[in-house]
Amino acid sequence: MSFEPADSLVGGSRLPAVGTTIFTVMSALAVKCNAINLGQGFPDFDCDPALVAAVGEAMKAGHNQYPPMAGVPALRAAVADKIARLGGRAYDPDTEITITAGATQGLLSAVLALVHPGDEVIVLEPCYDSYGPAITLAGGRIVRVPLTPGTWRPDFDLLASALTPRTRMVIVNTPHNPSGTVWTPAERERFAELLRPTRALVLSDEVYEHMVFDGAAHTSCSGLPELAERSLVVSSFGKTFHVTGWKVGYVAAPAALTREFRKVHQFNVFTVNTPMQHGLAAFLADPSHWQSLAAFYEAKRDRFRDGLAPTRLKLLPCEGSYFQCVDYSALSDEPDLAFCERLAKEVGVAAIPMSAFYETAPEMRVIRFCFAKREETLAAALERLQAL
Ligand SMILES: Cc1ncc(COP(=O)(O)O)c(C=O)c1O
Repeated sequence: MSFEPADSLVGGSRLPAVGTTIFTVMSALAVKCNAINLGQGFPDFDCDPALVAAVGEAMKAGHNQYPPMAGVPALRAAVADKIARLGGRAYDPDTEITITAGATQGLLSAVLALVHPGDEVIVLEPCYDSYGPAITLAGGRIVRVPLTPGTWRPDFDLLASALTPRTRMVIVNTPHNPSGTVWTPAERERFAELLRPTRALVLSDEVYEHMVFDGAAHTSCSGLPELAERSLVVSSFGKTFHVTGWKVGYVAAPAALTREFRKVHQFNVFTVNTPMQHGLAAFLADPSHWQSLAAFYEAKRDRFRDGLAPTRLKLLPCEGSYFQCVDYSALSDEPDLAFCERLAKEVGVAAIPMSAFYETAPEMRVIRFCFAKREETLAAALERLQAL
């Protein structure tokens, strides 16, 4: 019997430009070369055993069926409380907080819920790789505005010239992956001012919100009332509690935006797994768990930077997140992907090329390391990098 092969049935791709991500490629190369993986952004250490115990307790207590669509009420209340403690908007947990399957699902559902075909969505490049495909799936048009190369601070003149009456949404991210920059209150103020005459929404990716260093504060879009009114704020327990594999996050937004968001969320995942939500709610009862995160990562950042200081890799500022970027131009003129491949093969350390976060990258010689690693991992990587 003859039948049509799948290849001929698949038709045009909804996402023709999407292939294997650089993170998968570099992680595979790291395994192949036995390199220390400072590429992909995840901790190589475990979470607090109390969190695992809390999830176990929830399972034993029978919290194993569908939770409410928007999330377990205790977790939504804990999220609202955490945001309020940080000076953010007083979100109503019933109508303004939704628990998501990680930040990625929150971002995708927000774009699908609010971007209509033909709408323009501004992204500030370099950026996390899910934004573009989400906009494309919604039928939106991606408008790429570069952050200032080298400092990766927002260029508000460029942003102003990209805003049009067709701008439906601006996606921002602070602390920033990959550059580690953190918006200042003045930058947030300027952003709010630019949007004032527009009807643009803001999708604010704040997954590294609790990793802001040197005494600075996180500049959440929820912390400025006029911005909060037009923003969907996205975060991730995966980042905050060292459980990236659990894929639990949340979206906080005013009720009118949340209503639309939940229409998509309901048919995208419907609900997020129950025992994890109960466990996270119990763990959040002690705010010191997230309040101590900045100091924990700041110490790792400092040790990693001290170790790199004697090398010819030029350290770029790292104000937040768990990423440290370096300029390698004193060592090589190779393009960043080639340099990363050689670094993995010859030096035994995997990193991510900065160009991976752009559609078309400007000329630069910059790579990103992730320092969310055990002390032994960082020490071993530094020993190898110090030989450079
Ligand atoms: C900027 C940014 N946003 C979102 C995510 C995704 O978070 P989650 O794992 O909760 O989906 C990541 C993960 O690397 C990220 O770096």
